[in-house]
Amino acid sequence: GADLDAGGGPTSHHPAGHAISVADLRGPTTPAPGGQVRRYELTARKTTIQVDGRAVEAWGYNGQVPGPPITANQGDLIEVTLRNADIERGVTVHWHGYDVPAGEDGAPGVTQDAVPPGGEFVYRFRADQVGTYWYHTHQASDVGVKMGLYGTLVVGPPTEGVDLTVPVHTFSGTTVTGPLDPPAAAPGTPVRLRLVNTDGVPHRFALTGTAYRLVAVDGSDLNGPGELREVELRLPAGGRYDLAFTMPAGAVALFIDGDPGLRLGTGTGSGLDAPKGWPELDITRYGTPAATPFGRESHFDRNFTLVLDRGIALVDGVPKYAHTVNGHAFPNVPTQLVREGDLVELTVANRGFDTHPWHLHGHRVLVLERDGRKVSGSPLWLDTFDVRPGEVWRVAFRADNPGEWMNHCHNLTHAAQGMALHLRYD
Ligand code: C2O
Ligand code: CU
Repeated sequence: GADLDAGGGPTSHHPAGHAISVADLRGPTTPAPGGQVRRYELTARKTTIQVDGRAVEAWGYNGQVPGPPITANQGDLIEVTLRNADIERGVTVHWHGYDVPAGEDGAPGVTQDAVPPGGEFVYRFRADQVGTYWYHTHQASDVGVKMGLYGTLVVGPPTEGVDLTVPVHTFSGTTVTGPLDPPAAAPGTPVRLRLVNTDGVPHRFALTGTAYRLVAVDGSDLNGPGELREVELRLPAGGRYDLAFTMPAGAVALFIDGDPGLRLGTGTGSGLDAPKGWPELDITRYGTPAATPFGRESHFDRNFTLVLDRGIALVDGVPKYAHTVNGHAFPNVPTQLVREGDLVELTVANRGFDTHPWHLHGHRVLVLERDGRKVSGSPLWLDTFDVRPGEVWRVAFRADNPGEWMNHCHNLTHAAQGMALHLRYD
């Protein structure tokens, strides 16, 4: 089938003799003044993990799933040496949601070649954006991420109290969260939960036993959020929600798709009862409006429309059933061309029957409209937005990160079956 990661080397899209290739757009090699260097080594290897008492074959960075948590403070230089022990198809590290320089983006066939067994690649970028992110392989990513090649990236400042990163992943039908042994949280302790959906489908989260605030989405703070209780939060594939609350006297439980997940506190009682019939929170209508650098009434230098569907398209020159963008399957979807500095409007319409979490590399987007309704809440900056069947989303971004970038559905099976394209700076 169409291999999302196929293609020549990172320079293959450029004519011979072109002075700058995407692979040359590397990050700084020093921290910002006052920052530190954070060094990590990640070796991708095959391993066996325990899921619900069963041994499951997996691939993990350093043999662990999730991979080592990467943390930094604003201004630090993150330096990650990736090695591949035995993953025959090769590996990379993509910094999901983190707007790194193009050469650090870990997109094989675009920004680098995949690291083969025995190979190595060093990533360097500044931790300039605070928030909750994650990393994952981008080589044969539909298989690699599913097998366990992912981890979390959290950029400080560290929050006071209990600060827990909760990546959610499904292994052969069982949804697991980390950490499995949360620390003790005495009543009165401030708690922050950083939910990360590493799967290709949305998950529904419900927090019982306390009111809480949704303080950040995809790493960007929400403006003026109020207290929530008895609602369900639907987190798209690849997305992150940061929740904050003060530990009550009783227990608090996080339910995932209706099943008990993480539990905090030692109390018993109503905090542990499963939520029933709670409505879904619409995050596009939540919070307090605040100024944005651009908006619906702005003049856009470029407008792109993407229609997502399923149908017959050419795959390796053969007509096949594929997940399509404007009727084509990757790599036959036309590349979006922009100039540095452009204000870009992107409309994404889903004409199919599947949900498509649309993801942009290298840029976060401001949501302008969902289904013709303007976003009435806090400015919502996302790197992945869930376009459900029949929906149309209008978003905007500033083309401020030169290079060549993947745009794709983060249901990585859909992406591997054609639902992807490139954005390139002229
Ligand atoms: Cu998290 Cu191109 O992906
Ligand atoms: Cu999709």
